Parts: sequence; C-alpha cells; structure tokens
Amino acid sequence: MEVIEQVHTIRERVQALRCSGKTIGFVPTMGALHEGHLQLLRASARENDVTVCSIFVNPTQFNNPDDYTLYPRTLTQDTELLQTVGCDILFAPAAAEIYPQQHALLQFSFGPLEAVMEGANRPGHFNGVAIIVSKLFHLVQPHRAYFGQKDLQQVAIVRQLIQGLSFHVQLVCFPTVREEDGLARSSRNTRLSPAQRQAAPSLHKALKMAETQLKHLTVADIKAQVSDLLGQVDGVELEYFEIADPATLQPIADLRDVQEVALCVAAAVGPVRLIDNILVNLNEG
Ligand code: PAF
Repeated sequence: MEVIEQVHTIRERVQALRCSGKTIGFVPTMGALHEGHLQLLRASARENDVTVCSIFVNPTQFNNPDDYTLYPRTLTQDTELLQTVGCDILFAPAAAEIYPQQHALLQFSFGPLEAVMEGANRPGHFNGVAIIVSKLFHLVQPHRAYFGQKDLQQVAIVRQLIQGLSFHVQLVCFPTVREEDGLARSSRNTRLSPAQRQAAPSLHKALKMAETQLKHLTVADIKAQVSDLLGQVDGVELEYFEIADPATLQPIADLRDVQEVALCVAAAVGPVRLIDNILVNLNEG
C-alpha cells in the first residue's frame, strides 16, 4: 500500500490512474478504523480497480475543541489494518496541507436538511464536513465513495453536495455495523470507560423499543418513553430523539399513513457523544 501525505502527489497519482482507465473507490475516514470502516473498504476493493482511503481528523467539522483534541488517533494501527482489506492508497495529509491559507472558510447552505438533529445541535459541523468532502472529492476524483449509515444525516448532506456541485461520483451507503450488544461501531467508542461502555448499548435499545411502539403510540408518547428509558441509565444524557423522514430527515409529527421512518438518537455517554439510527419500514412485520 502506498502512503501519500501531499496534496500534489495524490492529485498526480489519481490523474495517472484515471488516464489508464482504472476505476477509483474512495473511503473517507478520520481514522481509528473499526469493522464499520473495514466493510466499506472491502466493498470498495471488490467494486473498483483501486481503493483509496483518507485518514484526516478534520478540524473544521468539530464544534467542540475537546472533541477534536480527544478524537482517537491511531495511524500506525490503521495502516496495518488497511493492508488487510485491499486498500491500495492511504492519503493521510497534515492539517496544513489541507488548510494552508488563513482565509475565511467557504460557507455552504443545506437548507432544512441542516436545520435538524446533528445540524441543529452541532453548529458548523456540516459546513466543515462539506468543505473536507468537497476537497477530498476534488483530490481523489473517485468513481464511487463509501459512507456508513450510522451518520445518516451526513450521507444526506453528501448526497445534496454531490448534486449541488455536480460531482461525478456514485455515493454508496452501507448499513451500520454493531457490536453483539447492539452498540453501533464508532471510533469514539474507544473513549468509553468500562462503565460507560456498559451503558452505551442503551441507545440502540431505545431505538428498538421505539420501533415496537410506532404502530401503537403517538410521536410525543414514543419520545417520552425514549426519554424515560435513557433517563434511567446512569451516565447517559439524551440530546435528542427524532422520528424523521428517511430521505429529507425532517421530523414526522403524525405517524398515520407513513411508510418508512428513520429513528435517530444522540446522547452523551459520560464525556463521549454518540449517535445512532435505524430505518423502519412500517409496512413490514
Ligand atoms: O464520517 C467521517 O468520518 C467524517 O465526517 C468524514 C466523512 C471522513 C469527513 O471528515
């Protein structure tokens, strides 16, 4: 596997690959790789001639400086893992390579999509995501880009970005990978203490409980039940629980005549902020 740190080198490398007719699959990450990332990388290796993974802890998408400082950085271990899943090129730039100028950051606007959930609770987050994903798409020029469903709203933002800026890239979204007890795989899980790790699957439990009530209770009652359930778990503080339209991510107020919903949750487990979601088809089961 080739490791590239310079913007001009990755640009030249992918241009040569494209000229020789190779297809490029791309998995953008912030490192601390886990099975969720590895599934995306294996899919990319199967479906493309060349797989590029980027590891870059992007400062502009963190609205909380502590979250940025404490984000796990495990480049040596990540490099070893990448070699086991058929990754051909690791692009791991330094921050100054990606953000060399001191100019004000570009401003994106995603309308109602960024006014809810992660967008509402993490001001500036999706602007930072849009900046880095645009930069990476320009540099890596992928045919296909792979994202995980755990960051459902990010996937919707990237879809809108691709359409808005006419990126010629196919967005591939993969289901969330979970631990045996239901906890969604996340790089942030490594920051949980043993007690917090025990408490963390309660997010998934709350989503599954909400799923069972969709045909029986109102939205307000389901929200109250989720809040009660998580309120009883020591060290867990609910930030939001939403029942949303899976495409627009706008909140659903009335479940009558609804076909499919996204159940989305964010909570602090001790000092670690976790998110999770499930998609539910109300016509099944
Ligand atoms: O999902 C992530 O890890 C990040 O938001 C991404 C897409 C790599 C952009 O920094």
